[in-house]
Amino acid sequence: MTKLNWGMIGGGEGSQIGPAHRLGAQADGRFAFVAGALDHRAEEGRAYAQRLGIEAGRAYGDWKEMLEGERGRADRIDLVTVATPNATHFEITKSFLEAGFNVLCEKPMTMTVEEGEDIVRVAEKTGRICAVNYCYSAYPMVRQARAMVRNGEIGKVRLVVTNFSHGHHGDATDADNPRVRWRYDPRMAGVSGQFADCGIHALHMASFVCDDEVETLSADFASTIASRELEDDAMVNFRMAGGTVGRLWTSSVAIGRQHGFDIQIFGETGGLRWASEQPNQLIYTPVGGRTQIIEKGEGGLCEEATRLSRVSIAHPEGFPLAVANIYCDLADAISGAARDGLPGAEAGVRSMAAVHTAVASARQNGAWMDARPPMFR
Ligand code: NAI
Repeated sequence: MTKLNWGMIGGGEGSQIGPAHRLGAQADGRFAFVAGALDHRAEEGRAYAQRLGIEAGRAYGDWKEMLEGERGRADRIDLVTVATPNATHFEITKSFLEAGFNVLCEKPMTMTVEEGEDIVRVAEKTGRICAVNYCYSAYPMVRQARAMVRNGEIGKVRLVVTNFSHGHHGDATDADNPRVRWRYDPRMAGVSGQFADCGIHALHMASFVCDDEVETLSADFASTIASRELEDDAMVNFRMAGGTVGRLWTSSVAIGRQHGFDIQIFGETGGLRWASEQPNQLIYTPVGGRTQIIEKGEGGLCEEATRLSRVSIAHPEGFPLAVANIYCDLADAISGAARDGLPGAEAGVRSMAAVHTAVASARQNGAWMDARPPMFR
C-alpha cells in the first residue's frame, strides 16, 4: 500500500502533544512524515524537522511558507496536522482547507462559535476532511462502550457522568509560572480556562458514547486560585437531545488526581464505566447482576474495538495508539472509506458552542441555556 504524505504545524521539540502525533501518524505505516513547520521560531523548527528526517526543502520556517511550498507539488501532503496553540487553529485550518488539503486540527478547533461554523462550511464546500483530535474517543474500549450503548445492552441511557479533573495546576505558589499562567489569562486562552482545555474532551466523550448531542446546559465556574481570571474548576449539568441527564466536573486543582478522565453511563438495564488511567478495561454491570471486567483483546468484542487494537490481551496500549487510531480512520477516510467514529468539524463547533454557553451560564448564576451552535438549532 502506498503511504499517504503527512505534514505537521506546531508540535515542535519539547511540545506536549507533538510526540503523540508523530508516533500516532506513523504507527501503522499509513503516513510518511514529509513536511513540517514545527516551531514558532523558524530556524529551530527547520532544524528539528530535519533531525526528524524531513528533507531540507520541506522543513519550513512557518505555516504560510509551508502552504505555498506544498500547494504546487505533485507529491503534496495528503493531510496536515495543526498542533499549535489554540488561537492559531482557525486561521491555519481554514487556509489549508481552502487550498484543498485535509486537516486534523487539535482541540479546541476554534476560539469562537462563528469561526467554528465557518470551518464546517469551508470543509463542506471544499469537500476536504476536517477532523478534530478528540483522541480519547478512539480507545478500543471506548468504541466497545459506544457499541454496547448502540446495541441496547444497557437499555435507554438515563444518566451520563463524566470527569476530567487533575491537580497539576493546584499549587498556588506556581500560579505565576508562564507555562501555567497563560491558560487562565483571557488574552491568551480566550473565554474559558479549564472547561475549554479539558472539559470539552469529557463533553465530547459523553456525546460520542451516548450517540447523542448536548442540547442545553447550566454551568458553575470557579477560580479557586484568586489571581486567575478564568476558571480552574467547573461543574456543568447538561441535557442531551434524547433526554439523557448529564453531569460533568472538570478541574485543574484536584490535587491527587493525576490524569483524571473517566465516564460512567447509567442505562435502564445496566451501567458502564471507563477511565483513561485504566484504558484497557471497561466495567459493565447488568441490572441485578454481577460487575464484570471487559478486557481489551478478549474474544467477542465489537468489530471497532478489535480493529483498533494491535497488541494482545493484557499488554498496555496507551495514548499514542489512541491517537494512531484517529490517523487510521483518517487514512481510510482519505482513501474513500467512511469511518463513523472519526470526530469532525461538527464536533469541533459543538464544543465551541458549549464553551461559550457555559461561560454565559456561569455569569448568570447557572441559568439553563441552549448549548447548540446556531447552525444546528
Ligand atoms: P506546547 O506549548 O507544548 O507546544 C506548542 C508547539 O507549537 C511548540 O513547539 C511551538 O513552538 C509551536 N508553535 C507555536 N506557534 C506556532 C506557529 N504559529 N507555527 C508553528 N509552530 C508553532 O503546546 P501543546 O500542549 O503541545 O498544545 C498544542 C495544542 O494541542 C493545543 O491546542 C492543545 O489544546 C492541544 N492538545 C491536545 C491534547 C489532546 O489530548 N488532544 C493534549 C495536549 C494538547
